[in-house]
Amino acid sequence: MVQLGMSTRQPPVWQILVINGPNLNLLGTRETSVYGAVTLADIELSCQQQAQQLGLEVAFFQSNHEGALVDRIQQVQQQSVDLIVINPAAYTHTSVALRDALLAVARPVIEVHLSNVYRREPFRHHSFIRDIAVGQITGFGPDVYRLALHAAVHYLQNSLN
Ligand code: DQA
Repeated sequence: MVQLGMSTRQPPVWQILVINGPNLNLLGTRETSVYGAVTLADIELSCQQQAQQLGLEVAFFQSNHEGALVDRIQQVQQQSVDLIVINPAAYTHTSVALRDALLAVARPVIEVHLSNVYRREPFRHHSFIRDIAVGQITGFGPDVYRLALHAAVHYLQNSLN
């Protein structure tokens, strides 16, 4: 018997892809005065925990190679990825190819950086991604990834209304 008034509808489970660019595999040992001692594995674990609390599914990808990053972004076209969180690392400042790939797959993008790039060398002040992103989160260390997951939920919920 159908119980009227009792909804079995579940909230949507959003699928988020977190992409990290070159040298971020070295987090934990790389320039620790800038990037801290937390490893990429630590960041992925804390994102997984955060994702469970937020009702998200999160997948991760890291590469040191621009073409591999472009290939991974292109795969999104065949997948049900709702939003991309990306730390393009040095490619932030150089890569038209990453920008074009993100435009091609037409998913909302949140750009993150562990360091505050605007307090660093002038060449880090330019981003090829920032104007095609929903927003940018920069300078809060490893927390930027968890902040981005929160921002993703807000953005996706608002896009439903
Ligand atoms: C970075 C900032 C970039 O300028 C740099 O090339 C990186 C890391 C960050 O997370 O602070 O590799 O994206």
